[in-house]
Amino acid sequence: MENLSFYLVTDTHYFDSSFKRSGKAYEDRSVTDQKCVAETPEIIDAGFEQIAQDKDTNIILIPGDLVYRGEYQSHVGFRERLYKLQEYGKKIYLITARHDYCEDGEPVEFEDDRLIRVKGMPRDELRDFYKDFGFEGAVSEHRESMSYVAQLSDGVRLLALNCDGDCKDFKGLWENQMDWALEQIQKAHSEGQYIFAMTHYPLLPFSPIMNLIGDAHLTDWEKTAQTLADAGLDLIFTGHMHAQAVTDYTTENGNKITDVQTGSFVGCPCAYRKVILSNGAAEIKSYTINDFDYDKNGKTAKEYFEWRFNRMIEWKMDEILPKPAKKLLNKLTVKKLGRLLFFKVDKSIENKLAKDVGIEFVRNIFVGNEPYVKDTPIYETMSKILKRLHPVTHIIEKKTGAKNPVLSDIDAFILSMIGDEKQRDWDAVLKINYIRK
Ligand SMILES: [Fe+2]
Ligand SMILES: [Fe+2]
Repeated sequence: MENLSFYLVTDTHYFDSSFKRSGKAYEDRSVTDQKCVAETPEIIDAGFEQIAQDKDTNIILIPGDLVYRGEYQSHVGFRERLYKLQEYGKKIYLITARHDYCEDGEPVEFEDDRLIRVKGMPRDELRDFYKDFGFEGAVSEHRESMSYVAQLSDGVRLLALNCDGDCKDFKGLWENQMDWALEQIQKAHSEGQYIFAMTHYPLLPFSPIMNLIGDAHLTDWEKTAQTLADAGLDLIFTGHMHAQAVTDYTTENGNKITDVQTGSFVGCPCAYRKVILSNGAAEIKSYTINDFDYDKNGKTAKEYFEWRFNRMIEWKMDEILPKPAKKLLNKLTVKKLGRLLFFKVDKSIENKLAKDVGIEFVRNIFVGNEPYVKDTPIYETMSKILKRLHPVTHIIEKKTGAKNPVLSDIDAFILSMIGDEKQRDWDAVLKINYIRK
């Protein structure tokens, strides 16, 4: 039997081409966003075209946030594209997530300085709307939660878990949904099948700072990770944070589960993955959309996505910082910062703006494979800055460390975020319990 391969595409956030998308109202919204919205038709068409050209891999998994904000017409436009992929022989398995429905009339289009309401997609219509993409023909279905198990090949099953939870504060699996999932895992194993999962929300916090951000993972992630790993699930694909990350969790019983989170299809770093399951291993490779047909002001697709990401961070900084601090930051080089804190900075980085380095740190967390490991000038500089700040950080460690263990050593916390020794967020080979029949 041949190896099984599939693509992983997520957070497509399609905004239908029929909608108005220009003027101040759109720009005000867009500047706050990592993802490109107006551009989605062109980006998605280019990305799907790249995937369609690969004749060897015919399975595509999509773990949610299919459309921008629950617009009905966006689902119509997105589904048309899925049917087109089917014509190329692709089989698509998807779940929906919180951006795919609208319960409070939020969907809009943009014209000049106005937001114009458009028809929304009710959550309870999603399953039937997307029935041809995993639900119908499933080995088992948990209708209430819109979850299912699909047979991908002779020996491999997909556990597709919707994690909308209560659609408010709780993101995760309901109790009876978890019972069903555990039954399905057990059933697969007893029938000699390998089973892996996908959810929209990350199962695991993918960077130390993500421990502190409630929206960055399932609400009760640790309990869920323990339960699933101890049931023998060792691989889960996720999205939502628009970041590239591969994260492990090992339970007290020694069972490991790996969360492979994929970046958004339509925002920096703009990524999708191809996974090949072979005997005992999942080989994961990441790709980006090389180009798309849009006026990018002379930028390449990669530069365009990065520009959008940086613009979002600058906007956030603008929101938070008082004016004098902003003025200072716009001029503060790494050399000056070193002088202020009484240390010499490596020549190769002295003229960089401290602000730009900060933006890059944040961007790298989302892009994955953070490069500033020990012995790089940036790492050494950061490590000196942190040492100088000890009088302050030691107080924070004492005050917050007990409640948030990741903050009990702030130096380690920060340094682990800027440099990743493993470098496997894009490409990785994971050991899994799949035995090819
Ligand atoms: Fe998303
Ligand atoms: Fe999301």
